[in-house]
Amino acid sequence: MAKVYVTRRERFNAAHKLWNPKWSEEKNFEIFGKCANENWHGHNYELFVTVKGQPDEDTGCIIDLKLLSVIINERVIDKLDHRNLNLDVPFMQGKMASTENLAVGIWGEIAESIKSHGCELHSVRVHETENNYAEYLGE
Ligand code: NI
Repeated sequence: MAKVYVTRRERFNAAHKLWNPKWSEEKNFEIFGKCANENWHGHNYELFVTVKGQPDEDTGCIIDLKLLSVIINERVIDKLDHRNLNLDVPFMQGKMASTENLAVGIWGEIAESIKSHGCELHSVRVHETENNYAEYLGE
């Protein structure tokens, strides 16, 4: 049977700061640039969640996209939207608030739930800006 990949996009706005306390101020700004700004800054994030599965005989779909949206919103968007990624988000505690770590963290929050609905999570892609995104495939 054909395996198909389906993607749902969600959006959230959040603040963060990239700062490594082991480094000097100079090195932090050299490595993280504007993302090291002391008093935080925000991004308009876009999240793309791709699931894979075989189309159901009765619906022709691999997952109800309304249901996928509910899973993503309840498990991650509600925890991320209009929050501070460094301070407010339980699954980001103790990690650098990078796009990479965000993608890995989001995977951990939704993978099981998607599986329980007969589908498999394929990738989590987080766009921080128009030009930069990180993608996690669960490896
Ligand atoms: Ni930033």
